[in-house]
Amino acid sequence: SQYQIAVVVGSLRKDSFNRKLANAMVKLAPPEFSFKQVQISDLPLYNQDDDANPAESVKRLKAEITAAQGLLFFTAEYNRSIPGVLKNAIDHASRPYGQSVWAGKPAGVLGASIGAIGTSMAQQHLRNVLAYLDVPTLGQPEAFIQVKDGLFDEVGNISADSKEFLQNWINRYVAWVKKHAD
Ligand code: FNR
Repeated sequence: SQYQIAVVVGSLRKDSFNRKLANAMVKLAPPEFSFKQVQISDLPLYNQDDDANPAESVKRLKAEITAAQGLLFFTAEYNRSIPGVLKNAIDHASRPYGQSVWAGKPAGVLGASIGAIGTSMAQQHLRNVLAYLDVPTLGQPEAFIQVKDGLFDEVGNISADSKEFLQNWINRYVAWVKKHAD
């Protein structure tokens, strides 16, 4: 397809709500968009000493981001910020100095948690990091998803209650990516 999107899920948990949300959301996008979740679970802890000799998993991550026309982040919230595993991935792909692969890639940020504020603090921290990395990030609509019974149907799709909101979110995201890619 015309637009390849790298999806970054900020949780390693097998039954991650954020991964479920990612899997359901990408189905709402038009056919000219394709999505690939990048693997971050096998990245080493970032160590600047390894910049000259990056691990295969780091090279893979950077190649996948480079190949993408857009980015989609789904972050969990840990202690009112982004999980360390997500920051670790972002740091890896931002280095060595001058060789960041993030700059200029249009992005969207979402997150899900069972808490009432639905990852809003984590998303704000993530936006701060992305701004520094020169990633143009969709400002509105915001998507602070509180996970409740019935968010997903039996087969993992977004259920009717939330579908209109998230469909609108994806439509806005699609327009955002096209605007920056063209
Ligand atoms: C959490 N959780 C959490 N939730 C939240 O809304 N705000 C928070 O600050 C935190 N802090 C936090 C810290 C740590 C260390 C853990 C393990 C959990 C709960 C969190 O939202 C919940 O575990 C989600 O299910 C995590 O997302 P995934 O893994 O389901 O995608």
